[in-house]
Order: sequence, then C-alpha cells, then structure tokens
Amino acid sequence: MVSLAFPQRYAHYATYRFARPNTTAANWHGGEPEPMTLDTQLTISSQNPFQTELDVLVVAISPEFTGSELATELDALLDGRLSKLVSSGVISGETNKSSTWHLPAKIKPLTVVTIGLGKPDRLNAGVLFRAAATAIKQASGRQLARIGLAGFPCSRDEPNSTDAVLIGGLVGAIGQDLYREKKSLFPAKELVFFTSDEVSTKRAEAIATGIAMTRNLVNQPANHMFPESFVDQTLEQIAGTNLQSEVWDTDRLVAERCETMLAVGRASDKPPRLLILRYPGTAAGKSLPPIALVGKGVTFDSGGLSIKPSDGMMTMKCDMAGGATVVGTMMAIAKMGIDRPVIALVGLVENMISGSAYKLGDVLRSRAGKTIEIHNTDAEGRLVLADVLDVAVELSPSHIIDFATLTGACVVALGNDVGGLMGNSEPLQQLIRQAADQVGEYIWPLPMYSIFDEQVQSKVADLKNVGDGRWGGAITAAKFLEQFVGDTPWAHIDLAGPAFADKPKSWCDAGATGYFVHTIATLLENLGSKQV
Ligand code: BES
Ligand code: MN
Ligand code: ZN
Repeated sequence: MVSLAFPQRYAHYATYRFARPNTTAANWHGGEPEPMTLDTQLTISSQNPFQTELDVLVVAISPEFTGSELATELDALLDGRLSKLVSSGVISGETNKSSTWHLPAKIKPLTVVTIGLGKPDRLNAGVLFRAAATAIKQASGRQLARIGLAGFPCSRDEPNSTDAVLIGGLVGAIGQDLYREKKSLFPAKELVFFTSDEVSTKRAEAIATGIAMTRNLVNQPANHMFPESFVDQTLEQIAGTNLQSEVWDTDRLVAERCETMLAVGRASDKPPRLLILRYPGTAAGKSLPPIALVGKGVTFDSGGLSIKPSDGMMTMKCDMAGGATVVGTMMAIAKMGIDRPVIALVGLVENMISGSAYKLGDVLRSRAGKTIEIHNTDAEGRLVLADVLDVAVELSPSHIIDFATLTGACVVALGNDVGGLMGNSEPLQQLIRQAADQVGEYIWPLPMYSIFDEQVQSKVADLKNVGDGRWGGAITAAKFLEQFVGDTPWAHIDLAGPAFADKPKSWCDAGATGYFVHTIATLLENLGSKQV
C-alpha cells in the first residue's frame, strides 16, 4: 500500500512551504489523497449467484432479453416480472444502460443491477469492458463488501472476453476523488465473477493494477505530481516486482547533453528526471532485444512563454499521461510475466515560466546533435521526446513505441475517444491495431506522407518545433519525432484525446482513463518470444 503523502524530502520546495504557511511537510496531513492501489480481491465462483450472499449482483442483459440463461433464471425466480419490465422498456438492455433494484424477493443478493450489453452482434471486448465498468461504477456509490458479476457472455474460447469483464469490474470504481473527504466512488472489498469455466484471475488483475496506477498518477495535480514525486511513487509501487530502475537527475541529463529536455524544464522549480525501467523477460524471450516504450512526462504544461489560456491550461496535469501509461504498462507486464524484455523511458519535466525560461527563436542542440529552432514553447512534448527517443535508440531496441498527449490537433482530427497512430513501420502499426481491436480500445492511423517532411525544416537550424500553421498538427509533430528514431521501427501514439476525460462517462469517472495500458500489455504479450 502506497501513501501519497507529500513527503519531507520535498520540503525544500518554496511552492510547497508557501502553500501551507503554518505547517511543515513533516506535520501536515490534511488533504492527502487516499492510497489508490487496487485492493479489490477478485474471486471466481461457480455457485449460483442468486443463492450467494452479495451486497450487489450485477446481471448482464441484452435488449431482447435473449442469450443469457442467467437472466432467464432470474426472470423465473421473479415470476416473469423481469422480462415484462424489459419488454415494456422500464429496464433496458441497451448498451451501458443500467437499472438498480433493491431487495428482490426469493434471491439472496440485496440489490441487483442490470447492465445492458446492446445488440449481441456488436459484442466485443470493449463493449464488455465498458458494460462491466459501468455497472460497477453505478453500484459503487458506497462501500460494499461483495459485488458479483454474472450473466456476461464470456467464453473459454475467447479469453479476451472474460478478462475484459474482470478488468472493467476491477477499475470501474477507480476515480478522481483522491482529495475529497466524502468519496464518490468506493471500490468494493471483493468482486466475485460467476462462471462455470475455469478462469485465472492473474492477467486481469495485472492489467487492472496497471490501469489503476496510470489513472492515479495522472489524477494527481501538479502540486503533488512533479518529476521527483512521479519517480518516487513509481519506485514505491514497483517494489516487489522484477522491474529494475535507473533515474537520471539534472547532473546526469547535463552530462548526457539532453539539452532540449533540460530547456523545457529549466523555468520550473522542480528539477527534471529521466526514469528508466527495465523488465528482463522470461527464459524464453530473455535473449531478444528489448522493446522500448517511451513516454511524455510533462507533469504540468503551462505552455511556457507561449502561454496557454486558462481553459486550455486547466487540465494540463494530464500532460504526463503518456509517461503514466508506460509505467502502468510496465507494472502490468511485470505482474503478467510476459516473455519479452521491455525498457520504459519517461522524460519528466514541468513546462513553466521564469527568467530562465526557454524562448522563441532559441536554438537548442538535441542529444542526437540536430539543432532545433523554437517557434512555440507550447510544442514542448516533442522536445522532451527528441532527447528521450535518442536515449532509447542507443539501447538498440527492436522497436520503439512512444506515448504522448502531444497535440490538440490529434483531438481535432479523431475526437476525444480515439488515439492517433503514426510511425515509420507498417507492420508495427498493424500489430498495435490488432491488439487494440482485441481489447476494444480505439486507435486510428494518420498518414505520414513525405510531403509533411519539409514542414519541420527551419531556415536557421536543422529543425523547427512546429509545422507551418496548425493544419495537420498531429502529423507534423510525429514528423518531428521521426527525426530522432533513425531506422528503428517506431510507432507514435498521440493520446491527447482518450487519456483524460473532462466529463464523466458511464464507464469511467472524469479525469484519467488509463487508456492503452490494456492494448500495449496485450501487444507485448502477443509478441511473446517471437522474432518480429
Ligand atoms: N500538451 C499539449 C497537447 C494537449 C492538448 C494535450 C490538449 C491534451 C489535451 C501540447 O504540449 C501542446 O500544447 N501542443 C500544442 C502544439 C502547438 C503549439 C504546435 C497544441 O496542440 O496546440
Ligand atoms: Mn504544450
Ligand atoms: Zn504538452
């Protein structure tokens, strides 16, 4: 269990002391977030759920009330009144529609929540994940001991379907109310999944833990979450796994000539960090070259001198979501025990303003040697990634995948719920899309035609850090990154849309979503010890 208290070691930050004038870090305990490790116990039961003591039983139903023996059995127990309510439209089986009823007669669970799955021909892992999460979120307005999940059309032939329900169930109540005295969501003590199949919970627990970790890192605001605290919390949480860590501080970053990353972080009181995590792989895959996961970890993006308006700045604690996704994925794969070695690199900085801020027109020398003319200090993510990608290339990975809340333009192109996929390797993109389809997360390619290349050329330096104007901004950002990966097969995932939700969804509280942890953990698992 990890405490997110603001530890004494950060007391030297003036911002922290000034914020709480009569306290020191050592004695101040107000407003600290609750520990947010996933501590719901997941159990599998082949008992009859209607004869099981539960606070809440979730029962999945479809619109025509077909396909589920369990719903039919419940209907019979209730003298046909359930199907009557469904056919009269009072209870809906449409996607993510739920209804709650208390003290249903003749069954042991005190409350039943029905959850609609929508049309059977549209069912996939994403639908199941969201349905389970919706029902759990619906049921978790108070602390419960035991919630059951039953009637989900999962089959042994499709292990993804079972895991989707289990993961949705486990993370459905992981929300953003970290600092509220009165919580709004309470993860249940125990989640019971009813099935007659033999089911292992290990993979689902691993991925759910990763998603919860990602959400929890992203949901902490910038007065709590900055490069050092990101590192500390990560190291505390991975203790006990076989992940190895290495942390580069300012001195090391200077020695390594990470000038573009340092320039972005220079105006902040919070020093930058590069966090490196290594997962060694298992015997079958150990000797393969690693896959590198690179994350943008801008713990707050004010825009710098090209300052953001308040509206746009409000949610910029989310700008380390790429880094948090990478860390959550590492946690997941370490717990899953996948075959392949994986290295994560997260570039952590805060993009602020002060007398030492980097300026428009500045020319920076990246670690790779390419010079960059600064046209906009709010295009900072690509500068951080330029240096981190160069470090990654040096480790000779077989592939690099980077994750970044990189551009508003990607959200304009694809909306809030779809990640942008770019890169230099069609086969790698196919593998990523396949994994995303398998788990039901949304990702879509944007074209990397060479006509975009000239847009990142500068008249003064080798490159400039924005394209010509804002059109195609997600692509020109990726084109900039491409300059730093050499020949390594590389994919770039822009998750500015799906990483963070301004409004709650039926299946997820507002705030961090943990999007793509499931996809990438699945991708790395799929690759196994294959030569690709
Ligand atoms: N962190 C932002 C991108 C972002 C926008 C993330 C919305 C999440 C939600 C990024 O650093 C940024 O400011 N990008 C600029 C680039 C521009 C100056 C070329 C943008 O998208 O406007
Ligand atoms: Mn920015
Ligand atoms: Zn940013």
